[in-house]
Amino acid sequence: MATTSKVVMISLSIMMMLFSTTLSVVLEFDENHIKSTTFFSEKVEVGPGKIAVKTLFDIHFPKGHIGIKSFDVEVVDEDGNFVPLYEAYLHHWFAVKYIENITMSEYIKQSHDIRNGIEYERNDGACQGFLLPHYWGLGGESQGTSSNLPGPFAVEVGNPTKIKHGFTEKWLFSIMLIDTRGTHDRKGCTECRCKLMNLPKDFYNVTTNINGQLLSKNYKGGLFCCQDNLQCKLRNGFKGPTRKLSLKYKIRWVDWDEHQVPLKFYILDSADRVISNGSTPIHDCQVEYKIPRNHDNDFPHVKKANIPITKGGYLIHGTAHMHTGVVNITLYGQDGRVLCTSNPKYGIGKEAGNENGYLVGMSVCNPKPGSIIIKDGEILTVESIYENKFRTGAMGISTFTWQNIYQKKIWKFDVKLFSYLL
Ligand SMILES: *[C@@H]1O[C@H](CO)[C@@H](O)[C@H](O)[C@H]1NC(C)=O
Ligand SMILES: *[C@@H]1O[C@H](CO)[C@@H](O)[C@H](O)[C@H]1NC(C)=O
Ligand SMILES: *[C@@H]1O[C@H](CO)[C@@H](O)[C@H](O)[C@H]1NC(C)=O
Ligand SMILES: *[C@@H]1O[C@H](CO)[C@@H](O)[C@H](O)[C@H]1NC(C)=O
Repeated sequence: MATTSKVVMISLSIMMMLFSTTLSVVLEFDENHIKSTTFFSEKVEVGPGKIAVKTLFDIHFPKGHIGIKSFDVEVVDEDGNFVPLYEAYLHHWFAVKYIENITMSEYIKQSHDIRNGIEYERNDGACQGFLLPHYWGLGGESQGTSSNLPGPFAVEVGNPTKIKHGFTEKWLFSIMLIDTRGTHDRKGCTECRCKLMNLPKDFYNVTTNINGQLLSKNYKGGLFCCQDNLQCKLRNGFKGPTRKLSLKYKIRWVDWDEHQVPLKFYILDSADRVISNGSTPIHDCQVEYKIPRNHDNDFPHVKKANIPITKGGYLIHGTAHMHTGVVNITLYGQDGRVLCTSNPKYGIGKEAGNENGYLVGMSVCNPKPGSIIIKDGEILTVESIYENKFRTGAMGISTFTWQNIYQKKIWKFDVKLFSYLL
């Protein structure tokens, strides 16, 4: 991993290495041989206004050569109770795969030094470098968004023949949690508005953006103003206890065998300013963007990226990570056909999972397998739409899994068979 930049990097550079230690709980089996375990991550300490950006290495993960069917996350307190978003806002969580040199494992664990012995393994596309390298990953909308893959489809992990000799496969969480208790402006704080933070005086003199250049004074908010340990300004005199939060995550999986159909995992960013040099697409994912308030009209704000896809396939599952204010996000084929639209669900209550005014879920596409085909080389368009209101750190990150058409031969893919299986 290069030393400049990027989302995972932002947290890595802070180097709070926390190896998760908590135990897993139940192992459930069902009649489809799906196993399921709920895990707890290492605890992360927060206090009123505090921002926690952490990389939790070597998280609990089911062992062996398996196919992941779902991966769902929520935030819990010391007693295992769900924490509502208006107290601790889960800005994002990303699960990233890496491999670790086995002879260095003990050293890495002791020293927390990851300069050598670790290699990150990206998803199948489409961002450049170290941006958005994750597989599963959402934010506050997690609880209301299903990651379940239907039928025989699964994401293959832990295949010993694909892991470099002398290495072992591991997973990390890259997370951002914002404790908004007592803050002056809760919503602005969840959008990482710079002027709401207690920033160091020389912040704009020393902070570099995704491309390694100094942040512009015009940078009003986003990931760079939400760095680990910074604090959103509190209401006068507000005092509150610190608390230790963790991610409670449930993974469902099957043992890998010939009945499983592997999927490729794509993360597409509507802020990808992709260009082509003639032969190769060059991605320039921005990960987040600012939405200016347009006073001339009330039309929602639209952000679009045209993303060439080298290897197509059958679209199996789609959803998106967005922030509050989202109207919808749509993936279009090159001919303009709609491949998948994900719509927001906003909370209307008080309880965790239904917090009033917060984005609490994104709908999921599960088209009938074989019905939606993306061709090799097709240029897809991702279009994310937000309300016409000033907003910083907006994200339009869609997640798709598809079955590579080339695997058709290997897996004797048969559309009729799948319709029958489902
Ligand atoms: C793993 O680390 C050891 C100790 O640094 C080194 O000698 C070895 O070459 C590494 N193995 C691989 C496969 O890179
Ligand atoms: C930041 O840089 C400006 C010039 O670009 C300088 O005037 C100012 O003193 C610097 N601030 C700090 C806190 O270093
Ligand atoms: C385009 O970029 C690719 C990958 O960097 C490179 O291999 C290729 O030579 C470039 N083509 C042109 C026409 O510059
Ligand atoms: C997404 O929202 C826009 C703006 O409200 C609307 O015009 C459009 O029809 C929606 N797209 C889909 C596919 O539902």
